[in-house]
Amino acid sequence: MIKICSTEDVPKGTAISADVDGTQIAIVHGEDDAFYAVYDECSHAAVALSEGEVDGCTLECWLHGSRFDLRTGEPTGLPATEPVPVYPVEVRDGDIYVSLTPSNGVTR
Ligand code: FES
Repeated sequence: MIKICSTEDVPKGTAISADVDGTQIAIVHGEDDAFYAVYDECSHAAVALSEGEVDGCTLECWLHGSRFDLRTGEPTGLPATEPVPVYPVEVRDGDIYVSLTPSNGVTR
C-alpha cells in the first residue's frame, strides 16, 4: 500500500487527484464517510473524474453526467458503459493508503 495524503486533505463530499507511481487516481471522500480510490479518467472519454461531483458513494463525470459507483466502478447511467478501475483504500493513523491492484479486476 502506498501512502497518499492525510484524511484531512479530502473533506467529505470532495475528490482530489493523486499521481500514484505514475497512475492518476481520484481519492474520494464519499458522503457515506468512507474513502474510495478510482482511476482518474472517465471510461467514456479522457476526462478527470476527480473534477466531478461526489454524490453519495458515486462520482459524477462533469462532461456528460455518467455516475460511477465508487464501490464497484460501474457506471449507473449512460453515456459511459464500461466500469473504471477501483483501488483498495486503507486509513491508518489519519492517513490514506492505496494499492495499485484494482479490487474490481478492471484494468485500464
Ligand atoms: S466523458 Fe465522462 S460521461 Fe462522457
